Amino acid sequence: MLRVRRRRDTKHVTEGRIPMKAKDILSRQRDPGETRGLYEDAAQRGISYREAIDKRRVGPLKEGIEGLTRFDEPLPSSSTDPMEVIAMLDSVGSPATMGMAGPRFFGFVIGGSLPVTVAANWLATAWDQNTGLALATPATSKLEEVSLRWLNGIFGFPETTGGAFVTGAAVANMCCLAAARHATLRSAGWDVEQDGLFGAPEVTVVVGEEVHPTVLKALGILGMGRNRTVQVPVDDKGRMRADALPSIDGPAIVCLQAGNLNTGAFDPAGRIIPWAHERGAWVHVDGAFGLWAAASERLARLSAGFADADSWATDAHKWLNVPYDSGISFVRDGDTLRRSMSLTAAYLPMTDLREPSQYTPELSRRARGVEIWAALKTLGTDGLRTMIERSCDNAARFAKGLADAGFTILNDVVLNQVLVSFGSEEVTKEVIRRIQEDGTCWCGGTLWQGKTAMRISVSGWSTTPDDVDRSLEAMIRIAGEVRAESGPEKDRQGTS
Ligand SMILES: Cc1ncc(COP(=O)(O)O)c(C=O)c1O
Repeated sequence: MLRVRRRRDTKHVTEGRIPMKAKDILSRQRDPGETRGLYEDAAQRGISYREAIDKRRVGPLKEGIEGLTRFDEPLPSSSTDPMEVIAMLDSVGSPATMGMAGPRFFGFVIGGSLPVTVAANWLATAWDQNTGLALATPATSKLEEVSLRWLNGIFGFPETTGGAFVTGAAVANMCCLAAARHATLRSAGWDVEQDGLFGAPEVTVVVGEEVHPTVLKALGILGMGRNRTVQVPVDDKGRMRADALPSIDGPAIVCLQAGNLNTGAFDPAGRIIPWAHERGAWVHVDGAFGLWAAASERLARLSAGFADADSWATDAHKWLNVPYDSGISFVRDGDTLRRSMSLTAAYLPMTDLREPSQYTPELSRRARGVEIWAALKTLGTDGLRTMIERSCDNAARFAKGLADAGFTILNDVVLNQVLVSFGSEEVTKEVIRRIQEDGTCWCGGTLWQGKTAMRISVSGWSTTPDDVDRSLEAMIRIAGEVRAESGPEKDRQGTS
């Protein structure tokens, strides 16, 4: 029978602190009775948080954020009861969280987290496996290997494809571009890992004008320069123009995008990849969320041709709905990724199995494959397809509701992203501010080809048509109020 310790209330946290000696706190943490109560208390708090997520306002209240000053205390010299630490985390921290895990958060491109992935994360955290070496962490290394195989199948990548489980698409882009740098310079007779970039042959890097900033950041980190890219103009959807490609000669990397963060549009892979390969260039795809379109036959026309690239970056914490943080790099020739990331040391035992640390920038890291495996095992390909298609259906519902109410949809809603203008820059910004303040839902702003817009990204598994309708009601009501207040002059669509 489980012995569940009662939760302490918030008041107790601040008023009833009993200082403890360091040796007491460590020996108490070894007491199974004490720690069971602690774990159960934290689990109960997590469960209560998740159970309330549908009903709570999405953005935190001002008072919640102001309450964070309670963390601004000097580092205590004496110990604190761990139950009180968790109680404080919950009572002070939880009210200042954003409801990202809930069904009406539509900011940035942020998925929720499927309950099974949260549960798997809790168990994996209890395992506390440093997933760098197959010998040391067999279970989590195996789960990464299996996840990778399944993911390759979903995206249509060949069996030779190697992968790395990293923090997010930003680092996934960096790993892929490190592999690209390795391969392009190797074919020019240069060993970049050993000899660095000083004196190396130049590598031309081609990107679209709508390249995500994390790709440029990765190029900067890798010594290839944020400013040295050749930028290809884009069309009115944000897609690279295949009729405006530069001439390339010598080592080259061409970066495509599957899923523009504003419009959801896909670069024309079917035209650009063959062009790049004919010129011996490496093709990298930033598919942070768009790559998941491949999971749906209905959407597969968008991702068609992308599997012919040489490397791909995506996120699991976006559309696969696993908890933060989780991104994945894929490289068609897994050995190339391994050669750009590997390290050896006498104290690190290597086996014939896939060695996780040979594919990532890190040596030590958490077991990200566990939640990915849990999500895929639970959903299966049918569940994954349903989850992706539902997001797109809900995005279309948003677009129709807003257009019917007289607002301007600025993009072709091909995926899960909607851009809406409520009028002038000033009006749109004020509508966004008030929507965030209202709390029914949460959306951010953006600037799309000179126009200020509100950006709606439907990436969470739990959003229902009812959530869309509730959010639409709030958006339309608020936009109506702002437009009525701002008068006819400011009411017109303006450019920023
Ligand atoms: C197209 C694209 N690439 C890269 C990223 C960076 O992903 P992350 O923040 O997970 O590192 C994003 C994030 O939204 C994105 O939309």
